[in-house]
Amino acid sequence: MTHAAITGWGKCMPPAVLSNADLATFLDTDDEWITTRTGIRERRVSHVPALELAYVASARALACAGLAAGELDLIVYGSCSNDEQIPNSASGLQFRLGATAAAAMDVNTACTSFLYSLSTATAMIRTGVVRNALVVGVEVIAPFMDWANRNVSVLFGDGCAAVALQACDSAEGVLGEKLGCFADARQTLRVRGTGLTYANGTVTYGDTLWDFDGQEIFKRAVLGMSQASADVLAKCGYVIADVDLVVPHQANLRIIEFVAKRARAPMDKVYVTVHRYGNMSAATVPVALVDALEEGRVTPHSLILTPAFGGGLTYCSHLIRWGERTTPLRTTDIDLPPCERTALEMVREFMARKVTPGRSTPGLLAPRFPESA
Ligand code: UT7
Repeated sequence: MTHAAITGWGKCMPPAVLSNADLATFLDTDDEWITTRTGIRERRVSHVPALELAYVASARALACAGLAAGELDLIVYGSCSNDEQIPNSASGLQFRLGATAAAAMDVNTACTSFLYSLSTATAMIRTGVVRNALVVGVEVIAPFMDWANRNVSVLFGDGCAAVALQACDSAEGVLGEKLGCFADARQTLRVRGTGLTYANGTVTYGDTLWDFDGQEIFKRAVLGMSQASADVLAKCGYVIADVDLVVPHQANLRIIEFVAKRARAPMDKVYVTVHRYGNMSAATVPVALVDALEEGRVTPHSLILTPAFGGGLTYCSHLIRWGERTTPLRTTDIDLPPCERTALEMVREFMARKVTPGRSTPGLLAPRFPESA
């Protein structure tokens, strides 16, 4: 049987750091509330579009695998913050990398987008459709964040990581997964202003309005991540004691602790990054995986569990068998352009771009068209 080994990995984190103290300069919040309720201390704000983060992370993942871009058969771009809706982002990445032989598709399941993308690429490798694939998890949320809303703006951050997958004969890569969706709760996390429902209104970054029921999302997240983890372990014939490392989606430290407790996984087996990056949606799990590798927390043949949830409300849990190699074959000099501004300066610019005072829901029931059309 053919499997899909993870042979390359690379992350690209924007350098500008936004601290809890920075947020408190324009929001009625403080470091104590944010750290005790969420575990988050700081997050990143990107000075470049998502595609640029994806390009650098992908170049690093390909170098790590010793793969040339021309050898790729497939790119799956997992994100809910695409720079543009049409054309898709994966085609932009194919072009930027020069991966001319690769099929290119986007997957959007919000925070679980990387993991659903991993399932998609793995399935295509297992069934012989492709042999070499690149899977990206990227999010640049800062430009459409409703920065004045303290319920959400303290939670999220920007970031990106990618992995290279290659067909192999040994039982490596994703051993199994459970995917699901609590669609009855899809209204608990909605960003109004980001889809084509709102097109031909004001063409600008944002005027976004976040509908967000944190407590309901919290409950569903714990339920979905716990059930999916139990399901995938049973399906693959393992118990939690067999798992070497849990790399969960990182939205809130308290959610992670609840999930670990329900799964009976001790916290020293759980890899946590939420304090330094916040919730980077689709980028969260792959960035944590790369950090865990760099810190030596992933050892040869480790069994890794990755429970996650996101808008939709999608949820999933994957069981991954790592291969022999935990260090890159090669590295690359490809990097981001320098960042000239502080994170706080960029956030203040995003806030200044908002155009509609009072923010009614734009164009939902009565789409607006330009008068000249
Ligand atoms: O990947 C999907 C993304 N979604 C999530 O990750 C959401 C999951 N949910 C959560 O992480 C938590 O529910 C939150 C962190 C969003 C909120 O924590 P909570 O313990 O559920 O707090 P709460 O919503 O019950 O709010 C408690 C209080 C409220 O004040 P009152 O009504 O008790 O006076 C809020 O207005 O805290 C207030 N509050 C804040 N205070 C200071 C809410 N946000 C803030 C803030 N700073 N940033």
